[in-house]
Amino acid sequence: MSAPAAPPAAPSRPRSVLVTGAARRLGRAIALALAAAGWRVAIHYRQSAEDAIKTVAECDLFTVGSACFDADLDDEAATRALLPRVIAHFGAVDAVVNSAALFEHDDATSFGYAALERHLRSNTAAPIVLAQALHAHLVARDARGCVVNLLDQKLWNPNPDFLSYTLSKAALEAANTLLAQAMAPHVRVVGVAPGLTLTSHLLSEEKFQALHQLSPLGRSSTADDVASAVRFALDNGALTGTTLLVDGGQHLMKFDRDFSLM
Ligand SMILES: NC(=O)c1ccc[n+]([C@@H]2O[C@H](COP(=O)([O-])OP(=O)(O)OC[C@H]3O[C@@H](n4cnc5c(N)ncnc54)[C@H](OP(=O)(O)O)[C@@H]3O)[C@@H](O)[C@H]2O)c1
Repeated sequence: MSAPAAPPAAPSRPRSVLVTGAARRLGRAIALALAAAGWRVAIHYRQSAEDAIKTVAECDLFTVGSACFDADLDDEAATRALLPRVIAHFGAVDAVVNSAALFEHDDATSFGYAALERHLRSNTAAPIVLAQALHAHLVARDARGCVVNLLDQKLWNPNPDFLSYTLSKAALEAANTLLAQAMAPHVRVVGVAPGLTLTSHLLSEEKFQALHQLSPLGRSSTADDVASAVRFALDNGALTGTTLLVDGGQHLMKFDRDFSLM
């Protein structure tokens, strides 16, 4: 007697990821790299609605079904509501990439409670709340997933510029360890720390190019380098509680000022 035919395999669900701050710049590059790898991407944005819609359309060229979601990460209630909205849309979420960040200048002279609090809300508290929501969701599904937190090489090569920003990222780096301990085995937590990757209004193109070469490898990170490290962190099931420095070795050097003020 021949064995009964196996039932047809259920269509597998594409993996889904929320990328914060994904309308533009590094978050967009990460979203596109993950869509190209078959992920369905929730593009989070705050003000950049038009760019978010464009990023969704670009992601859909690779993997159909991406969507965009607005939220002000300064607002705890809006941040807490974000992952449930994405889950309601996709049915399930497997990972969160915390790329959105506030980057405003202050230093030891201009420092005040308000600047620190703003940076801590969007750069530290929001990534933790999103990790907390992913953990609860994965525990309920008895599933495994990953949080990737975007850090900065300057934590390993400190200078006193952008004091509140740096403190908020240092706290997030500490949270990486604590969350990896608390949320295992359901959630892996991995940091990705870029070097100088994209320019800003504070730097001319010429100055940016010169600073980008200022590293032991003669080049800092590109957006593609950072996106491929995020993809690696999401795929490698043995990584947790650690950080990948993707910076051409800039963290091995000593800079007295932030790049944008050099
Ligand atoms: N770029 C670099 O060279 C570099 C170097 C080292 C580390 N990093 C880290 O890599 C990540 C991405 O860098 P990036 O240069 O792409 O960042 P960015 O352009 O400075 O900011 C990314 C996005 O964050 C969103 N955002 C900021 N505050 C928010 C809030 N309160 N609520 C919701 N969204 C908020 C903004 O979204 P909307 O535009 O939609 O408002 C913004 O477009 C950051 O975590 C950064 O610290 C970057």
